[in-house]
Amino acid sequence: MKIEAKQHSIIIGKNSIRSLKSETKKLCPKCKKIYLVTDKNIPRGFIGKIKSNLKGYKIYVSKITPSEKIKNIKTVEHFLNKLLSLNFNRSDLVIGVGGGIIGDISGFISSVFKRGINFINIPTTLLAQVDSCIGGKTGVNSKFGKNLIGSFYQPRLVILDVQILKSLPRRELICGYAEILKHALIKDKKFFNFLKTNTNKILKLETKKLIESIRKSVLIKLKFTERDFKEKKLRMKLNFGHTFAHALEAKNKYSNKLNHGEAVLLGMLIATKISVLCKVCSKEIYEELIKIYKKLSINYLFNYLSLKEISSSIKFMKNDKKNNDEKINLILLRKVGSASNPGAFKFSEDKLKSLIRRMF
Ligand SMILES: NC(=O)c1ccc[n+]([C@@H]2O[C@H](COP(=O)([O-])OP(=O)(O)OC[C@H]3O[C@@H](n4cnc5c(N)ncnc54)[C@H](O)[C@@H]3O)[C@@H](O)[C@H]2O)c1
Repeated sequence: MKIEAKQHSIIIGKNSIRSLKSETKKLCPKCKKIYLVTDKNIPRGFIGKIKSNLKGYKIYVSKITPSEKIKNIKTVEHFLNKLLSLNFNRSDLVIGVGGGIIGDISGFISSVFKRGINFINIPTTLLAQVDSCIGGKTGVNSKFGKNLIGSFYQPRLVILDVQILKSLPRRELICGYAEILKHALIKDKKFFNFLKTNTNKILKLETKKLIESIRKSVLIKLKFTERDFKEKKLRMKLNFGHTFAHALEAKNKYSNKLNHGEAVLLGMLIATKISVLCKVCSKEIYEELIKIYKKLSINYLFNYLSLKEISSSIKFMKNDKKNNDEKINLILLRKVGSASNPGAFKFSEDKLKSLIRRMF
């Protein structure tokens, strides 16, 4: 299955990696060298398949162990120096094969290398397939916060091969599911109902339901990102739950104990509760969300839902990219399938603290 986005296509399927050979020839006709930036945790067989689809090119492979700590400008510089020392030019190609961390780093490297080298993204986590590979955001963290250094840069192609998700731990699958759920919550009630019925099938990687949930998620994300590529307004709706998520991640020093998708699950729950307290959303929706979370068996996460934990993370919200003044700009939920407009709900630190106290 192929989705034609404005600037590139997205190929989704079982064993869709097979299309890499013909697509590379078509999209990068002058390419001679390929640099694969990949992840140590990806099964070797998959990298083998990629290489066998790229016979005839000079291929270089770097495997890294992804973490928010290595998602930084030093790693970018390291790869830029490699590409320069190997005499890569713009008509050559960088391929990112990994989760959101590899995708964000390799996309950023591609955007700044000689002002833009061909880039193909092959996301290998559910989160990266349904979210981070779409919309052209690339970047790295700084000591001041997450994803604060980056660019908007589209890949020439995205290949979503659901076969690679088989080696993904359940914890990572749930993180991907979090972003799928977010897309349904902010945009599509019918899709939300589909998810409620099919959660277990999706998490068991049942091909048909899995591909449908990825396809739908990609289309929703494209709807926002294609209308507002540079995130001036509309696209910010995709940040539902993320203001709290990023703050919790920062407060916990980007520890592996709380990864991004888990923080998003918590963030969406907090944002929904605040929506209820602000009387823009019914408490039944919050309760419905709790039911879904219980189905996911993620009770271990609820420890983060304490007054102390949330209140002490507020100070990390100041650097959020949605803010354009001293206030904290939140996306709230109005009903299933509809989120508030960016800028509609801005809170001072004190107001937010008092709302959070009322949550408990
Ligand atoms: N650019 C965007 O629009 C955007 C959107 C959302 C998130 N992000 C970023 O994405 C990152 C999170 O992405 P992620 O959740 O994919 O994390 P990740 O890249 O750290 O991958 C999660 C874990 O899964 C492992 N892994 C990857 N593929 C695997 C496979 N097929 N089998 C087994 N293990 C595998 C990785 O080694 C890692 O341990 C964050 O840095 C976040 O900021 C970016």
